[in-house]
Amino acid sequence: MKVLVTGGAGYIGSITAKALEQAGHTPVILDSLLSGPRQYVGDRIFYEGDIADRALLRQVVEQHPDIHSTIHMAARIVVPESVEKPYEYYRDNVAKSLEMYDELLALGKTRVVFSSTASLYELKPEFEVTEEDPVNPTSPYARTKRMMEQILEDMAVATDLRAIILRYFNPIGADPDLETGYHLKDATHVVPLMAQAALGLRDSFTITGTEHPTRDGTGIRDYIHVWDLAKAHVRAVEEFDSALAAVGAPYTYINLGAGDGVTVRELLTAVERVVGKPIPVEEAPPRPGDAVGAFANADKAAELLGWQTEHTLDEAIESALAWGEKRKSVLGYE
Ligand SMILES: NC(=O)c1ccc[n+]([C@@H]2O[C@H](COP(=O)([O-])OP(=O)(O)OC[C@H]3O[C@@H](n4cnc5c(N)ncnc54)[C@H](O)[C@@H]3O)[C@@H](O)[C@H]2O)c1
Repeated sequence: MKVLVTGGAGYIGSITAKALEQAGHTPVILDSLLSGPRQYVGDRIFYEGDIADRALLRQVVEQHPDIHSTIHMAARIVVPESVEKPYEYYRDNVAKSLEMYDELLALGKTRVVFSSTASLYELKPEFEVTEEDPVNPTSPYARTKRMMEQILEDMAVATDLRAIILRYFNPIGADPDLETGYHLKDATHVVPLMAQAALGLRDSFTITGTEHPTRDGTGIRDYIHVWDLAKAHVRAVEEFDSALAAVGAPYTYINLGAGDGVTVRELLTAVERVVGKPIPVEEAPPRPGDAVGAFANADKAAELLGWQTEHTLDEAIESALAWGEKRKSVLGYE
């Protein structure tokens, strides 16, 4: 199958493109290179441009009339930046997606798999969330994602557009061949920060928030190896029609997580185990907006997509650390 991947030059998009290829499918990449590095496209079929460029979308479909579905990953994704630049976030994520959905519909390309986020969920005392649980987006970024979900819902009810909305938990790690991985320059990802502290490249790792109502007082997340996440997209396009038939609706939501809650202290222990060195720790109060967190009930993904994670937390950490070592040689910056 041919699959249009918007944002296919990005972190998750480039790895999803590889997973599609490994399953025998052909990704067609549409990316403006707003943040994705050109080299992440490799030698894949590539259209450099904006998702809202209707003429370009028409050209893509004219040249690839056999496109089966679209995986829509293109977005601005940095939460603090979304607070500073709400116009850019609502324009690029919401308004441009709306134009793209409408053009895809006009072109008869009605299957959309959408990248949403689990950071939308309202906090729950037991931390495990299902797709039915209430949402409460707390940043402009998260609100753009919720709006894009709502647009898909309304369009799917009113038109032939069909949608599988994937809510990702916390992807970590890199492409299994270490060709691509997390690329943002001022990375504040937690695993690299912990590893740097373990290796003496920084004095310590600071746990922000130690009095949360979790089993050890620190925040809880659901880390998923990005390769597992990528493979879930392959299942989503392969099972697209059967999944919607099974739920009897024109759209559906699916959590993508490992299904395990991991606290910050538990993650520290896991990184220490992988690195083989202790991590000096400091403790500080939570930063404004820090969420206690959540983890996935991933039953629906298993049921509808026949998918579950295959990699352990330690493997995901190993992959993240290996990419940390390799990243500069690929991207030219630390
Ligand atoms: N990384 C995470 O932790 C995470 C968590 C939940 C959801 N997501 C979602 O997954 C998707 C991919 O995220 P990522 O981490 O790979 O981010 P990324 O920044 O690496 O990838 C996004 C890609 O979209 C492209 N893009 C942005 N605006 C565009 C436009 N208007 N037209 C064409 N291309 C455009 C960028 O150039 C980039 O290559 C996003 O939709 C994001 O919201 C990511």
